[in-house]
Order: sequence, then C-alpha cells, then structure tokens
Amino acid sequence: MKLILLGPPGAGKGTQAKMLTDLFNIPQVSTGDILRAAVKEGTPMGVKAKGFMDAGGLVPDEVVVGIVRERLQKPDCAAGFILDGFPRTVPQADALKDTLAELGKDLDAVISLEVDSEALVERLTGRRTCRDCGRGYHIKFDPPRVAGKCDACGGELIQRDDDKEETIRKRLEVYQSSTEPLISYYRKAGLLGTIDGMQDIQVVKKEILAALSVA
Ligand code: AP5
Ligand code: MG
Ligand code: ZN
Repeated sequence: MKLILLGPPGAGKGTQAKMLTDLFNIPQVSTGDILRAAVKEGTPMGVKAKGFMDAGGLVPDEVVVGIVRERLQKPDCAAGFILDGFPRTVPQADALKDTLAELGKDLDAVISLEVDSEALVERLTGRRTCRDCGRGYHIKFDPPRVAGKCDACGGELIQRDDDKEETIRKRLEVYQSSTEPLISYYRKAGLLGTIDGMQDIQVVKKEILAALSVA
C-alpha cells in the first residue's frame, strides 16, 4: 500500500497514519516528525528548518524533497508507506512523481481528510504528544488515562512548539494557499478519496479502510 494522507494541520493525518502503520505493517513517513527530530538533534538541516516551522511556514521544497527521496529508498518502504504531511506543494507532488517513477513505484491512493477550521484550532491547542514514544493524545477527544502521562510508556506529555493559536492560524493559511491545490491535482490523477474527518477517530479509520477497499 502506497498512500498519501492529505489534510490541514490537525486533520488527523498522524493519528490515522499510526493506526494504518500497525494494520498494514508499513512505515509512516511524516516529514513533520523527521524535521522535528532534526531540530531536536540540532543537525544543520534542523537548525535551518526551525525558523520556518516556528513561524508556521513551510520548509523549502528542496529540503523536504531530499528527505523523502532518501526515506523512500530505505528497505522498510519496499512493501509500501504512508506519507503524512508530504507533499504539501505542487512542486513537491511533481518531485514525488519523479522519485516514484525512478523507483518503479506507483501511488495507490490519496486520502483527503476534511475538517472545519474552528475544529482544527481546538484539536491543535488540545493536542499532547509523549516526549518518549511520540504517541499522540487530545486532552478532550483522546485523553490519556492519567493526565499528563502516556498510557503506553508513562512518558511526560508535551505540547508542540507550533501549537500556539497564532502559529496555528498561520499554518492554516499556508495550507489553504500552498497545499489545498493538491486536492484537485490528485483528483485529476484519479487517485483522490475524500473522508469526513469531523467524525470520531475510529469512524474515520473505518472509512479510510473502506475507501481503500480493504475493510
Ligand atoms: P506537520 O508535523 O506535518 O504538521 P501539520 O501538517 O501542521 O499537521 P499536524 O501534525 O499538526 O496535524 P495532523 O493532521 O497530523 O493531526 P493529528 O493526527 O496530530 O508539519 C509541521 C511543520 O513542519 C510545518 O508547519 C512545516 O513548517 C514543516 N513541514 C512538514 N512537512 C513539510 C513539507 N512537506 N514541506 C514543507 N514544510 C514541511 O491530530 C491533531 C489532534 O486532534 C490530536 O490531538 C488528535 O488526538 C486529535 N484528533 C485526531 N483525529 C481526531 C478526530 N477524528 N476527532 C477528534 N480529535 C481528533
Ligand atoms: Mg501530524
Ligand atoms: Zn509514550
């Protein structure tokens, strides 16, 4: 299964990608996660990316295209992958097409998760992530059993630096201007499936599986 999860910040791309990863036994390729890891490690790429990310803007296309190109060649992507947060611009989508052609691979589907803007702000301001294992939560919609602690590993739950309301608004604007055009891009390519992302997490998952005809 070679899949793209498309959708605005907070649509549930990461939440669904993690569940699909377990189900299909293929990796989640999240450019956001890869960039955050680089920022944490202080690599040259991370240092460069941090400013764009903190401002809610996009990291330059050549940087993320390079990351994904390298990642998709790793052996664990041989059976498939779930792209989460990439591509985000038309040039990134074109570059992905070239990379996949070089690797002799084809996309199976692009799933677009649709969620209202106001709901996105509430989801992102309430999001928490485990510092140790990266598992995601929401203080209202998907709370941990013990407040502030990860169910899976007991790690401390933290908030992402870019999940402040002002930065969230900027990220939503950037999504509309740079990423939304990919919906028609992939519709024209005959790959697009649209899911109502306002539904419960488990219902969204079920509908994705139905759209992929593997339910
Ligand atoms: P990235 O990490 O990709 O962030 P994003 O696209 O803004 O998306 P999020 O991770 O915020 O949302 P999500 O859809 O994964 O939602 P989640 O499942 O967590 O990118 C961060 C930054 O890196 C970018 O701003 C940019 O600077 C840079 N970057 C990354 N990729 C790039 C690229 N390709 N090009 C250039 N720059 C790039 O869910 C959110 C919350 O809602 C959670 O708390 C969850 O529990 C809850 N939730 C999920 N589903 C539901 C539901 N159905 N109902 C209720 N609550 C739900
Ligand atoms: Mg995410
Ligand atoms: Zn954890």
